[in-house]
Amino acid sequence: MYSSIIKKVLMALSGIFLMVFLLQHLAINLTSLFPDDGNTFNKISHFMGYNPLVQFVLQPILIFGVFFHFIMGFVLEYQNRKARISKYIYHKTRSSWVSKNMILSGLVILAFLALHFYDFWIPEMDYKYINFKQPDSLKYFHELQEKFYGQTTRTTIYCISFILLGLHLNHGLSSSFQSVGISNKKEKNLQRLAIIYSFIISFGFSFIAIYHYFVH
Ligand code: HEM
Repeated sequence: MYSSIIKKVLMALSGIFLMVFLLQHLAINLTSLFPDDGNTFNKISHFMGYNPLVQFVLQPILIFGVFFHFIMGFVLEYQNRKARISKYIYHKTRSSWVSKNMILSGLVILAFLALHFYDFWIPEMDYKYINFKQPDSLKYFHELQEKFYGQTTRTTIYCISFILLGLHLNHGLSSSFQSVGISNKKEKNLQRLAIIYSFIISFGFSFIAIYHYFVH
């Protein structure tokens, strides 16, 4: 019982950490919309790509955070199922729908991340740490445009993933407030905040993908 509460709190904290990452990732990607031929986007991407603190401290923490969150999600789901079967079989109501939805949307996000890493992260690692190519601070915007411009399948998969990501964030954020012990009184405002945050992330990323689909 006690260890399951700890797991839930760790799940919530890792989720909140990933949400902060998403906000900064969105903010950086939004600069690709500036009317400056990708100048700002290239500068920031180059900084992030070659700053030792980002590369060797923040990036490993982020990757660990992603894995931790997914593995813990499955562990908690497994425990919930076991508990439901043995004790609460008659109370299978809304919460079971929400958690089922979380696992499904979580799996879609995992699949999206595999595609996303294949698209951006792996080529970058290959460029820097396998082929040891010279830094090229102008390539980021060009690569981003290539991935989306006229690419219907990729843009569609990305946007569907962003909608499910929005739903996942909304449910996750609401339940994480309960796990870290925020009072019921504030709950209504926090629910609103969860909706606004999820919408910004979902809409913001979709807008970026669709913009680069049409504009070169
Ligand atoms: C249109 C939307 C998006 C664009 C254009 C985009 C773009 C990028 C780019 C260019 C990189 C490579 C960074 C590098 O050079 O290493 C990257 C990395 C990454 N992206 Fe995205 N991204 C988008 C949405 C997302 C979303 C929604 C998520 C999470 C669900 C995500 C998670 C990640 C992660 C975890 C990395 C690896 C971070 C790292 O390099 O340390 N991205 N993304």
